[in-house]
Order: sequence, then C-alpha cells, then structure tokens
Amino acid sequence: FNEQEQHLIDLNKQAAEIFNHLLLNTDLSGQALHYLEKDRHLDRQTMIDFQLGYLPSDWSLHQFFDEKKIPIEEQLTSGLISQYDDGSFHDVFANRVMFPLKDSYGNVVGFSGRTLDSTNSAKYINSKETAVFKKSRLLYHFDQAKQAAKLSQRFLLLEGYLDVIAAHKAGVDYGIASMGTSLTKEQLQLISRNSPKLTIAYDGDSAGQNATWRAISETRQFPHLQVDIVTIPAGKDPDEYLQEKGPEALKQIFEQDSSSINDFALEYLKHNRNLSNTADLSAYTTDLLTFLSEHPDPIANDLTLKKLSDQ
Ligand code: GTP
Ligand code: MN
Ligand code: MN
Ligand code: MN
Ligand code: MN
Repeated sequence: FNEQEQHLIDLNKQAAEIFNHLLLNTDLSGQALHYLEKDRHLDRQTMIDFQLGYLPSDWSLHQFFDEKKIPIEEQLTSGLISQYDDGSFHDVFANRVMFPLKDSYGNVVGFSGRTLDSTNSAKYINSKETAVFKKSRLLYHFDQAKQAAKLSQRFLLLEGYLDVIAAHKAGVDYGIASMGTSLTKEQLQLISRNSPKLTIAYDGDSAGQNATWRAISETRQFPHLQVDIVTIPAGKDPDEYLQEKGPEALKQIFEQDSSSINDFALEYLKHNRNLSNTADLSAYTTDLLTFLSEHPDPIANDLTLKKLSDQ
C-alpha cells in the first residue's frame, strides 16, 4: 500500500473498532442490539467474531474524526462522511448496522451498512469505491474462509453477509459472499487459487437460482475448479433456513446435499416450461445440449444425456 492507501485502511480500522464498541459497550445501541439479538438471533460472541457494529444517529462519526484531527479530505475520501450541497458534513451510514469488509489479509477496506427499518431507504449500502475498496475483487469473510478452506478443500459461496454468519453458526467457516453483485472473474481467481472446489449455495428463491445459473456460466473460464450446487429448500436463504431448522440441518445440506452443475441445469431449464408440450421440450433439449457443450465433461455429460432421455 502507498501512504494514502495506508491512511484509508487505518481510518477504516478505527471506524470498525468504534462501531463495534458503540454496539456492544454503550447505551446508544438499544435499537440495533434488539434487532440483532431478537430479530436476527445473533449472540454477542458472533458480533465480536464478525466485528459487527452500529453507527447511532445521535452520535457523530464526523465529529469523532474531527476530534482525532483527521483531515476532512481523508474523511470524505473514505466514503464514511459526505457533504451536503449547503457545505455541511454528515455520516453516510447513520443508524445502520455495520459489516466491516476486509481484504484477503484482514485489512478493513470498506463497509456495508444495513438499515434497521427497511421502509424507505436501501436495505444495504456499501462504501463507495476507493483506492483500497474494489467491490469486484472482494469477497466477504475471505480472509477467514481461506484458512478453513485449507482443511475443507472448498469454499461455500453465499449471497448475503447474514448467510455467511449463519454458516459460521452452523460450524461451516469456509463461507464467503460477493457484495450483492454477480460473481466476477477476479473473485473466481481468488477462489480457484485457494481451493480446488466451490459449492454455490445462493438463496433458494428465483433471484438466487437465476444468479446461480449466471455464476455457473462464469466458472466456465476456470475449468479446474470443481463446482457443485446446493439449493436451499422452500425458497429460503441459508439464514432463514437456520432460523427454521437449526444449525445441524444447515450444516447437513451444505455438506451433504449438493448436486452437480449438470443436475442443476436439468432442473433449472425446466422452469416456465411444460415438457409435455413439443415446442417447450425442444427448447429445453436445445438449451441443455448447449449447456453441456459449454461444460465439456465426457463422463458427467454422458450420464446427463441418459437422464435427459429417461425423463
Ligand atoms: P437480510 O434481509 O439482511 O437477511 O439480507 P439478505 O442477505 O438476505 O439480502 P438479499 O437476499 O435481499 O440480498 C443478498 C445480498 O445482496 C445482500 O447481502 C447484500 O450484499 C446485497 N443487497 C441486498 N439489498 C441491497 C441493497 O438494497 N443495496 C445493495 N447495494 N446491496 C444489496
Ligand atoms: Mn423486534
Ligand atoms: Mn436474495
Ligand atoms: Mn437473502
Ligand atoms: Mn437474509
């Protein structure tokens, strides 16, 4: 890192520590603690493990930075502070639960903040891109998951931060998430350099299944990465599944209920098609054959063709 980048990282580190302190050790966080403990069922140890935080609306990060003699240019560059048209400054993440985003080495490079009410504003907002925060190159929890993946020989790719935390609660620490964006080549590079296998377990709803289809397509450029798919039942996301069925059940589907990308394609391409209709069946077959040609694997594809002709 150059000097300016190091300053940014130091500032983010200070911010992550103060957000975590405000959440856990002050009486300014009542609403946020209630939300995390009662609504999201997180305990304090988990909040510590993930360095979760809170930026109360009746507390000013800008003022805190001023008192610490942080130059205003630096405050603005970090994306944590912004300026109104009238020239006054404000905290971008006011009244949000804060998720520190770390690079592969554990440096805090940015934040995602979740609203507590979700009525009028975006559910999550991210830090703007900076010299050290490039969304397309970052995977949430990668610094920790990298260690766990040495043992498990796999990463588990999830959609959301709370899904990564749910996996952790289920004893699966090799979970990672992209920042609500589609999976990028840079992220796949990070994954494939650190593990031979990737399990994709996006949300079970149709948005998650569509995103899975696109992610599988992205992995074509990484033929040595072995990819399989977990579909969370009943349209749930992993965190919702954990709340409903408990940690053992979640661990079980992550570790034992994956299917091959070909089996995923066999099912996925059926959506909105009636296979007893000749035109639909023909389109289905064409799409499947295209998929197989794009994912050349003679043994697996033979088996899939057999399943195709049997159904
Ligand atoms: P919870 O409601 O907190 O459980 O969130 P979730 O992770 O289940 O959210 P969802 O499945 O809707 O979206 C998955 C991921 O997309 C989130 O974890 C975020 O990274 C991202 N995301 C969701 N909503 C927004 C948004 O309004 N803005 C941005 N920038 N990202 C979002
Ligand atoms: Mn409540
Ligand atoms: Mn989703
Ligand atoms: Mn979700
Ligand atoms: Mn969720």
